[in-house]
Amino acid sequence: MEVNQECPGNLKRQLEKLFDASLRSTVPDKPRVKPVITTSPLDRSGDYQCNNAMGLWSMIKGKDSQFKGPPAVGEALLNNLPTSEMVDSISCSVTGPGFVNVVLSTKWMAKSIANMLIEGIDTWAPTPPVKRALVDFSSPNIAKEMHVGHLRPTVLGDTLARMLEFSKVEVLRRNHVGDWGTQFGMLIEYLFEKFPDTDSVTETAIGDLQSFYRKSKSKFDLDPDFKEKAQKAVVRLQGGDPIYRKAWAKICEISRTEFSKVYQRLQIELEEKGESFYNPYIANVIGELDSKGLIEESEGARVIFLQGFKIPLIVVKSDGGFNYASTDLTAFWYRLNEEKADWIIYVTDFSQKQHFDMFFKAARKAGWLPESDKAYPRVDHVDFGLVNGEDRKRFRTRSSDVVRLVDLLDEAKTRSKTALIERGKDKEWTPEELDQTAEAVGYGAVKYADLKGNRTTGYTFDFDAMLSDKGNTAVYLLYAHARICSIIRKSGKDIDELKKTVELVLDHPEERALGLHLLRFAETVEEACTTLLPNVLCLYLYSLSERFTSFYSIHQVNGSPEEASRLLLCEATAIVMRKCFHLLGITPVYKM
Ligand code: ARG
Repeated sequence: MEVNQECPGNLKRQLEKLFDASLRSTVPDKPRVKPVITTSPLDRSGDYQCNNAMGLWSMIKGKDSQFKGPPAVGEALLNNLPTSEMVDSISCSVTGPGFVNVVLSTKWMAKSIANMLIEGIDTWAPTPPVKRALVDFSSPNIAKEMHVGHLRPTVLGDTLARMLEFSKVEVLRRNHVGDWGTQFGMLIEYLFEKFPDTDSVTETAIGDLQSFYRKSKSKFDLDPDFKEKAQKAVVRLQGGDPIYRKAWAKICEISRTEFSKVYQRLQIELEEKGESFYNPYIANVIGELDSKGLIEESEGARVIFLQGFKIPLIVVKSDGGFNYASTDLTAFWYRLNEEKADWIIYVTDFSQKQHFDMFFKAARKAGWLPESDKAYPRVDHVDFGLVNGEDRKRFRTRSSDVVRLVDLLDEAKTRSKTALIERGKDKEWTPEELDQTAEAVGYGAVKYADLKGNRTTGYTFDFDAMLSDKGNTAVYLLYAHARICSIIRKSGKDIDELKKTVELVLDHPEERALGLHLLRFAETVEEACTTLLPNVLCLYLYSLSERFTSFYSIHQVNGSPEEASRLLLCEATAIVMRKCFHLLGITPVYKM
């Protein structure tokens, strides 16, 4: 994500702007060199550094070069840096790779935080060059229950959508449910058998959809007559037979009700446009690809051959039917041309990687996408590893069934409630407060455990670990936030009044370190968006609470001479923590 230059809360961006000016005067004939700014390692004498000298040196060295080595280039970059209120001092060592170290002005830092307190944290949002993004996430299959495997695509997709929404991007949150496969033949026939009067079928009649699916599948596998009926049913359904359409709609509706219970609990918004939605458009889209000469015949099927892949992408099966890829190509076309999305993001597990790689490549070949995969309109597959049980195998119950998501959430809530009761909270709080906190903590713990690791690796689902109040867990972080809120409450001060009347200062090293970390929020959200890695934000949040602890364990807030300024620092920390929670889909709690 190339971000627009104007980014008031983003330190890195602002430093880039300064060094950009410096680069232009240092090497005027190299206008394309982009500033490389990173945060400084702890052992270096700066907050940020510019790393361009080494690379520039290798571009310009030579007999006539005015520079004698990377440090000289660094020195020039330093001398040409425009003066700025944000910079306190700059230095560059006379040996080595010529890093230019920047120490930020503490006064400026304090002022920036005070500004955020007045103007709101939205002024620290990234500003990506994207108007409308579409996040295709969660996307379960109709008639199957949502199980633990749906946790990751749901939670990851929601977080990415939230980060983009925060960045003022319009986000189409798309649930691409599997509502159009051949499995509907057997489901409909089974429904007809069990409930000859389809109209009267209700959710409760079918009961457990998972077992309804399983029973119809086993009948399909064992009973050849049924199998034949089911295959005919698919044809009738896809041909638009009203009775079959009605039965199909019923099954979809029952599933949808089940899905929405999970979404409601997890506070996840999604707009469904399932596979069936794109069906009327497929023939035209395939026609367009054909007219561009992309489609060939192969073993009776119609396929697209793609460089770098041994097998072609099948877009029309040998029986003339469409498949997952034809639907996805069509949905992609629709999203680009009808919905005008300029960034389309798909969240599924890694096993579908090849499918996405192939149809992205086909879309590029068709000229729907630019050559560069970082240019817009842009497409990304956000893949992830599996959720494992403690035995490191795929997470299942003892009966080797998949774990239902509702049961998992129930258990998370029960466990966190038990922990709160053990701490006597049932006597302090109303039953509603107890319930709401148990939910926020329980669901938050499940989400955070899913998000905190790099998504490309799997993780072990472990209730004890995720509900621990120590270490990098949602419970610990929610505690930390509640503790800050309690410090502010206990002061009895009117924070809004302090914001207007008191100067925030960061005189002590721990205050400054906390302040600097707060100011890194904007660039962190930007990084998490650019890399599509929410764990970057989790790590930031965890370090923030650690920085706060280092500050609070040394410095008194309430009753100290610096009380007013420190309360503002507490407030800024709480605001940034809450924004992180919000972006991660976690409900903050104010007392615990
Ligand atoms: N329904 C699919 C599954 O359960 C996921 C769909 C992902 N989105 C897409 N456009 N293919 O595996």
